Amino acid sequence: MSSLAEVTPNDSIDAAFDVHRIREDFPILRSTVRGKPLVYLDNAATTQKPRQVIDRIVRYYSEENSNVHRGVHFLSEVATNHYESARKTVQRFLNAASEREIVFVKGTTEAVNLVAATFGRANVGPGDEVLITAIEHHSNIVPWQMLCEEKGAKLRIAPANDLGEVDIEGYRELLNDRTKIASIIHISNALGTINPIKEMIMLAHDRGIPVMIDGAQGVPHGKVDVQDLDCDFYAFSGHKVYGPTGIGALYAKERFLEAMPPYQGGGDMILSVTYEKTSYNALPYKFEAGTPNIAGAIGLAAALDYVSAIGADTITAHENDLLVYGTDQLSAIDGLRIIGTSKNKASVISFVLDGAHPHDIGTIVDGEGVAIRTGHHCAQPLMLRFKVPATARASFAIYNTRAEVDALVASIAKVVEVFA
Ligand SMILES: Cc1ncc(COP(=O)(O)O)c(C=O)c1O
Repeated sequence: MSSLAEVTPNDSIDAAFDVHRIREDFPILRSTVRGKPLVYLDNAATTQKPRQVIDRIVRYYSEENSNVHRGVHFLSEVATNHYESARKTVQRFLNAASEREIVFVKGTTEAVNLVAATFGRANVGPGDEVLITAIEHHSNIVPWQMLCEEKGAKLRIAPANDLGEVDIEGYRELLNDRTKIASIIHISNALGTINPIKEMIMLAHDRGIPVMIDGAQGVPHGKVDVQDLDCDFYAFSGHKVYGPTGIGALYAKERFLEAMPPYQGGGDMILSVTYEKTSYNALPYKFEAGTPNIAGAIGLAAALDYVSAIGADTITAHENDLLVYGTDQLSAIDGLRIIGTSKNKASVISFVLDGAHPHDIGTIVDGEGVAIRTGHHCAQPLMLRFKVPATARASFAIYNTRAEVDALVASIAKVVEVFA
């Protein structure tokens, strides 16, 4: 993933890339909101869906719907084939070594909970430590906190500097013999900071410590290669990468999945059951109890195919163009302060404005048809670190344009007018 420092506006966008062509794929982008064309800049919360994904889900329910892994009839075979082929799509997308390493989950939150409840419960004991960073989403804080409370272990936090970057020396110093796992955000949803995860994984591995990556904001914005990263666990959510809600994937190295106890019990995760003993299914089914989100997995595969057809480098370059352009435009507004100013950022501009509460900013820009997020972004400890109760956040996706950044800036000018 290239950094802001390496990208100046427009310098590396694929000449064949046509954002207006892309926009035609997203029906919702033709909407008007409060009489104004929708300007959707809340992509870190969830992305809009292209018709390729919508149509695929409609086709599944119209022509292919059945349960998976348990019927010999035709439709069950069709649904099973598409569901398992979706797993292969995720495997290829992440460059995992095997589809046995891909577990379908509800999303990033469930993936972190799964690892905390299985790997964590089996490996973390009294006096042990779990290491996270100061820029995590609540999803990568609370499950570990719950585990530590249950086990009498300690949650350690690698500090962040004033730019919103993890202090790598501070992180390194916290890795020790008691650390049983490090769980790290790939890209901050609240600030946009891209963590140097490859280096952080290497530092943990030097001490034999496994690493989980919260990739909720990683997968949507650039190439992720889990073998190259050498991470032990990587989680992402479908809905943040143009796919449906309620589906995501956990990548985990096979040897970890083999050793981990199951997460939930029920149908599909078993080989045989007696009242005395249950033996568990092969990977990855051991971790997928009950009827899975079949339509979600198939829709997710359609989304990943869509993203792959555009190309990760094109996505990174286009979004960086918007980030650089937006950062320049917003920085020029008197009294506006950007929170999160690392050189290595992706797709997010978080800001505060003198005299205006972020919620008021959000409401006024909404009146102009501009959708941004305001609040603590599920990162309350991070807000505390920056001594702000909340921020306003614009976040970009592949279908956004410079004209939409201009609309955001014009709507902020209205906020300034109201509060001047
Ligand atoms: C960095 C990060 N981690 C985790 C999550 C949780 O994702 P989900 O709600 O899809 O489980 C989010 C969602 O905003 C996120 O941005």
